[in-house]
Amino acid sequence: MRALILLVTLACFAGAQHQALIDYLERRLLAIEDRISLWHEQTNRYASELRELKQQMVAQLENLDKEKELLRGNLDGVGGRLDRVEREMDYMETQNGAQPCVDIDDKLVEQQVTQVKEKNKAKYSKLSDCSDMISSIKAMKILKKLGGSKGMWTKDVAGGSEKVYVLNGTDEGTVYEFSSVQEFTSSQGVSLAKTLNLPSVWKGTGHLVYNHHLYYVKEQLMVVKYNLRNASVADSVVFLAEDHVPVYSLTPETVIDLAVDEEGLWAIYATRQNDMHISLAKMDANTLDIEQMWDTPCPKENAEAAFVICGTLYVVYNTPQPGRSRIQCLFDVNGLVSNEDAPLIYFPKRYGAHSSLKYNPHERLLYAWDDGYQIVYRMVMKQKLEV
Ligand SMILES: *[C@@H]1O[C@H](CO)[C@@H](O)[C@H](O)[C@H]1NC(C)=O
Ligand SMILES: *[C@@H]1O[C@H](CO)[C@@H](O)[C@H](O)[C@H]1NC(C)=O
Repeated sequence: MRALILLVTLACFAGAQHQALIDYLERRLLAIEDRISLWHEQTNRYASELRELKQQMVAQLENLDKEKELLRGNLDGVGGRLDRVEREMDYMETQNGAQPCVDIDDKLVEQQVTQVKEKNKAKYSKLSDCSDMISSIKAMKILKKLGGSKGMWTKDVAGGSEKVYVLNGTDEGTVYEFSSVQEFTSSQGVSLAKTLNLPSVWKGTGHLVYNHHLYYVKEQLMVVKYNLRNASVADSVVFLAEDHVPVYSLTPETVIDLAVDEEGLWAIYATRQNDMHISLAKMDANTLDIEQMWDTPCPKENAEAAFVICGTLYVVYNTPQPGRSRIQCLFDVNGLVSNEDAPLIYFPKRYGAHSSLKYNPHERLLYAWDDGYQIVYRMVMKQKLEV
């Protein structure tokens, strides 16, 4: 009996132990199940996050593709738009470039007008009744390509002769003379020209032919008047401007630029005293005396050439990388037009640089040398007092 009780007790004991084991295992299993479901949850979350990320990436890639396409389109357009950008830059430079001219204008022009009036009484008096000014450039004609990038060509600006003179280069001594424009344009190079060898080498492009004389500038600021009919020096003077400097920053070979208009002979020059601006002098074509001098408000900077019409100096500006030439500053010795009234006048688009621009008052044309091309410009004129 005792043994049976012991056995039952033992069995009970063993049963209790077994139950505890099962309980323990169940708890473990539950814990593992919990973890598995947590892991499932996390995996799902990761998967959906990954999916979201992928969608975002796809969307961004699509955007990138679109932007790439857009960029490609833009790049394709760039070539065609370079031209416009260049023009716009040109225009912006125009706006900036005009500033100094306009800024100083108020004071300077006032000063100058009074100076001019005073000096006018004393010295230079207007010879003609011309009161025209340029309104626009109407037409351009390219006649020939002859010689180097810089030079000057002209007829006798007093009229009365059909001859064409070509002065190629900025320090040479041989003038080519053609009997007419037809012969000039039909000539193979200079084959039909007569050559005239000057007694000295010229400097720059400031020369002109007026009343059968070639006026040219040589070293030491010497202005030589050379008789073309009998090939002899008629006169020569040293131009009396102290500390002279090249007159146009874009055509630095030209120290003095000679010009003729309805009023006669002019010299366009610059001195160290008036370093930033261009000066103008009226000369006597016979004696080469200076009659009167003016400091103009027109800057030297970025100027390439200038000319005089009816007593008004027109300065032509460009950019160091040749762009579009334009008349951007003027100075009227009679004070009838001020720089503010003056329109900005563009030359026909050529992207060249004028190394000389010579007004022919007889034909009312501009003779230009543009990078080896000989060009004629016709202008539209208006009265100075018309706005
Ligand atoms: C014109 O001058 C250039 C140099 O400035 C020279 O190379 C060229 O041979 C000249 N042409 C003629 C026709 O004299
Ligand atoms: C050239 O002609 C001018 C007048 O036309 C004359 O005064 C001058 O003496 C002449 N010179 C020579 C060297 O013949």
